[in-house]
Amino acid sequence: MKNNSFTILSFITLIIMMNGVQTQTLDELKEKIVNEWKSLSLELIPNQIQDTVVAEYQRREWNFTQEFEFSTKIENFNDYSGKNRTTSIEGVGVITFQSESDVIKGAYLCQFTFNKSAIITLHTDELVNAFNQLENGDKPWVKDQPRNVTTLAVPVFNKLANQFFIAYDLIYIKDNYLYMGEVDAFGNEATQTQPPKGLCAPLIPLNDDVESLSLEELKEEMINGVWSSMTKEIRPGRDANNQLTTIYITRELWFPTDSTFGLKINFFPDQGNTNSQMELEMLGSLIWEGDASSVVPGAQFAQFVVDQLYLTPKNDQFTANFNSNLPQGVEPFQTNLKANMTAKDFPAFGLTKNDVIKENDLVYLRQNRFYLGARPVDAGRPYPIERRTYSLADDLIDPEREIFSTLLIVSYMLILINI
Ligand SMILES: *[C@@H]1O[C@H](CO)[C@@H](O)[C@H](O)[C@H]1NC(C)=O
Ligand SMILES: *[C@@H]1O[C@H](CO)[C@@H](O)[C@H](O)[C@H]1NC(C)=O
Ligand SMILES: *[C@@H]1O[C@H](CO)[C@@H](O)[C@H](O)[C@H]1NC(C)=O
Ligand SMILES: *[C@@H]1O[C@H](CO)[C@@H](O)[C@H](O)[C@H]1NC(C)=O
Ligand SMILES: *[C@@H]1O[C@H](CO)[C@@H](O)[C@H](O)[C@H]1NC(C)=O
Repeated sequence: MKNNSFTILSFITLIIMMNGVQTQTLDELKEKIVNEWKSLSLELIPNQIQDTVVAEYQRREWNFTQEFEFSTKIENFNDYSGKNRTTSIEGVGVITFQSESDVIKGAYLCQFTFNKSAIITLHTDELVNAFNQLENGDKPWVKDQPRNVTTLAVPVFNKLANQFFIAYDLIYIKDNYLYMGEVDAFGNEATQTQPPKGLCAPLIPLNDDVESLSLEELKEEMINGVWSSMTKEIRPGRDANNQLTTIYITRELWFPTDSTFGLKINFFPDQGNTNSQMELEMLGSLIWEGDASSVVPGAQFAQFVVDQLYLTPKNDQFTANFNSNLPQGVEPFQTNLKANMTAKDFPAFGLTKNDVIKENDLVYLRQNRFYLGARPVDAGRPYPIERRTYSLADDLIDPEREIFSTLLIVSYMLILINI
């Protein structure tokens, strides 16, 4: 009895100790970064071409051989199945750590200088033509032929001869997951003065030894957690004029059963702002739609059907906006009061009382991380099935389950046994 309570107490202490690690110093980050990392699935990246934003897909590998040395391979595709490669970039160089992010504590802006090697391969005729049109040299680009541009000019990228490629990105590590920066809804890359405002879906160690779950295991695990955003997520959204814009949200997701869900989404005006403008809450049902292992082993397709919808305006400005366009039969909104919008006309959201919100999504669970599918780049819903995406969105974490390092537990057990 005494022994038991001691063990439980010790474990509680251990859990508290581990949960306490929220942020990290630059030195801690440098220590953890030395590893080989890869994308978890093909990553969906918005790319603006003139007036439209299209989906591109990316697979990344980043090896950090020393805290200041990297080697990377980035492959871009124009299809979600990863068959149609458009460009490949391979680079080797040095990292210079800049400042800590002012919006994500413990994340650091890094400068990547490709000073040892930068090799580009173009895989489509369109790209070869586009590069050659801007090239005034006598050495034209050839499809599928790698070109070492370490010290060469690349007009398409405004890169001059004898100038190295330089890229900026955020680095953040939590548990055994590497996060880099997220681009905005138009795919704009970060710069030194405009660091990323969010984190991407994480990269995992190259030697991934986490076993994928069966559908039954996934159902069992997911109902035992409340899954929430680590930081504000960057997403495509629509502004008041129905124009594409970047929005900032946090999500909290839970499953009362393996065929029902609850989801709260809070909307923020920008990444740094901590005051939510409104909260949407949805309760509904989940229909399993089959194996999605083509995206990542262990993932499942599922349709989310919203049965109940609630809206809480969180500031007077939003309340006033909603009330200025109030449909018949809807009571005026009040700040911080949850309104039941189920089966009501809601023109501000483009909904009528007969609309049923459905999404053909993805579900994936890995350790203490839960994932849904990436959002379509046009900010619409992934419905019907043809609009489904085949990449993962940012991860949601169940704070109740920290990942225990096996080594730590084993050594801890040994201490307990010795006592
Ligand atoms: C990273 O390291 C692994 C293992 O050493 C190697 O197979 C892979 O090619 C490396 N990737 C890059 C981008 O250097
Ligand atoms: C592959 O790319 C070509 C040219 O960019 C395009 O015409 C074709 O539709 C793509 N195929 C798939 C499966 O996306
Ligand atoms: C790359 O830059 C680092 C840091 O400035 C330097 O130590 C290294 O020698 C450079 N490598 C090459 C190949 O220029
Ligand atoms: C590319 O060129 C750079 C500098 O000219 C050279 O140091 C590097 O080894 C080359 N990379 C490869 C893979 O040949
Ligand atoms: C919200 O409205 C729907 C439809 O009228 C109803 O089924 C549901 O019970 C309501 N929710 C609450 C909490 O009253």
